[in-house]
Amino acid sequence: MRSALFVPADSEKKLAKGPEAGADALLLDLEDAVALARKPIARAMARDFLRARKHEWPRLIVRVNAWDTGLTLADLAEVVTAAPDGIMLPKCNGAEDVKRLDWALAALEAREGLPVGGIGILPIASETAQALFAFGTYAGTSTRLIGLTWGGEDLAAAVGARANKGPDGQFDDLFRMARALCIAGAGAAGIPAIDTVFVDFRDEYGLRAEATEARRMGFGGKAAIHPAQVGPINEAFTPTSQEREWAKQVLDAFSAAPDAGVVTLGGKMVDKPHLLQARRILGRS
Ligand code: COA
Ligand code: MG
Repeated sequence: MRSALFVPADSEKKLAKGPEAGADALLLDLEDAVALARKPIARAMARDFLRARKHEWPRLIVRVNAWDTGLTLADLAEVVTAAPDGIMLPKCNGAEDVKRLDWALAALEAREGLPVGGIGILPIASETAQALFAFGTYAGTSTRLIGLTWGGEDLAAAVGARANKGPDGQFDDLFRMARALCIAGAGAAGIPAIDTVFVDFRDEYGLRAEATEARRMGFGGKAAIHPAQVGPINEAFTPTSQEREWAKQVLDAFSAAPDAGVVTLGGKMVDKPHLLQARRILGRS
């Protein structure tokens, strides 16, 4: 999943535009982009949108409201009837929150006659101060986990930070830490890490820089808030032809010397971590 575009689920216009954006997933939002009075209509619209889908792609993931709102079960009860590919769980505080969601989904899947375990879970794992201490708890919690992501807006609000980036456009320390922990937590759980949104959606240069950095750090994709962000994000997370060429050369070098642990390529040492990286670039794990 290179790109995942947020679409407020109560907006007919944006729902109609979403599938054309070229994103690998749409995040149908029932949470922060939807006012309280419009939650019921957003649920119904998300459900109808899911029911009307004709294609496997983009994947359709619903962001439900957080457990502490009391709205989550009503969100799930409605959207699971239309079998979304996944549920995004905001303000997730760790393994217990995921297990609870896993259990609720299993009951609803059984009710609907859907395969139990089919709906994925994508936690947003940094939106409270407490959550920062739980990044290591996700491994092994649920086979539904399809990725791990983080968010800096709610975290700023939670700790009373006035902003999450400095004047140079770089995240401040607390947010850099959350971002790095997201990669560590996802790596420990064996799932992809998805980087958070770039809110200044008119700044394509800034978006490209942040997405390129995210890929270098280990993220497999990035969330988007505007259709114009999808192209640059997809590009940033697609291996370049140079990277693919390098990866092929690494694989060739190792198959030419099957008993070697280390080989030389273009004057540089190449060993097992490079082989793993090369396989990942070519999508062969
Ligand atoms: N999904 C689908 N379509 C979108 C979209 C989105 N996330 N964001 C904008 N569009 C559409 C607009 O409706 C508009 O359509 P039109 O050409 O038919 O009028 C077109 O893309 C261009 O939009 P633009 O005028 O540039 O932006 P805007 O002022 O309408 O919207 C935002 C700006 C930020 C309000 C909007 O992008 C948005 O709602 N983003 C998602 C917010 C969200 O979900 N936040 C929660 C997660 S952080
Ligand atoms: Mg939020």
